[in-house]
Amino acid sequence: MPVAGLHRVREEWRARIAAEYTSAAITQHLVLWLIQAGAPPDLLDAGLVIVNDELAHSRLSHEVYVAAGGDTPPALQRDGLGLQRHDARLEIDILRIAVRVFCLGETVAVPLFRHLRAACTQPIARAALDRILRDEVRHRDFGWDLLDWLLASPIADAVPAFVTAHLPAMLDELERTYGTANEVVATDDGVMADEERAWGLAPARDYAPILAKTIAKEYRPRFAARAITL
Ligand SMILES: [Fe+2]
Ligand SMILES: [Fe+2]
Repeated sequence: MPVAGLHRVREEWRARIAAEYTSAAITQHLVLWLIQAGAPPDLLDAGLVIVNDELAHSRLSHEVYVAAGGDTPPALQRDGLGLQRHDARLEIDILRIAVRVFCLGETVAVPLFRHLRAACTQPIARAALDRILRDEVRHRDFGWDLLDWLLASPIADAVPAFVTAHLPAMLDELERTYGTANEVVATDDGVMADEERAWGLAPARDYAPILAKTIAKEYRPRFAARAITL
């Protein structure tokens, strides 16, 4: 397929450039909060490594986008490139981000990227997804380590109730992104050219069963191990 036929490939990788930038900014801000909260050095170091990973993912995504013929700058939403405080207690705000972005977001990212990589053979796209998938496993683990640290922190007693209260809304958000509550996912016909798959794309409808499996096999047991019922 000539580059001219790769419209969906370009759109997807252009969106990934911005998504990776957003991940870098959110993680950078979270590390600032962790420094302010006096978090252990190992967590701070892990967070800073993730910031660099996300910037590398963005650069790699840009390389794929250019190779597919793209030449438009990514659409960065500046309001989303940072975090907002909601609670008077810093640790509670850290908890909210740890669960929403890392325990949930980075945990489902692992099987999603594994699926995108499965049929990806275009060398530049494959190199990007190899690196991204390798890193996302560590990003997922960072989220659960963060949760464990909070479960041993001064707000430990408030953690299970806070997570239990906020999980439904966070899971709804995931359903509206990857699940059938997303119109695009629900109505996708699954039609995709082999060439598009070779560039690291998959039909949107594939996302819903991946999310459902992640809820059952990852979220539920991981939260249960921390006495949090989903
Ligand atoms: Fe990333
Ligand atoms: Fe990540």
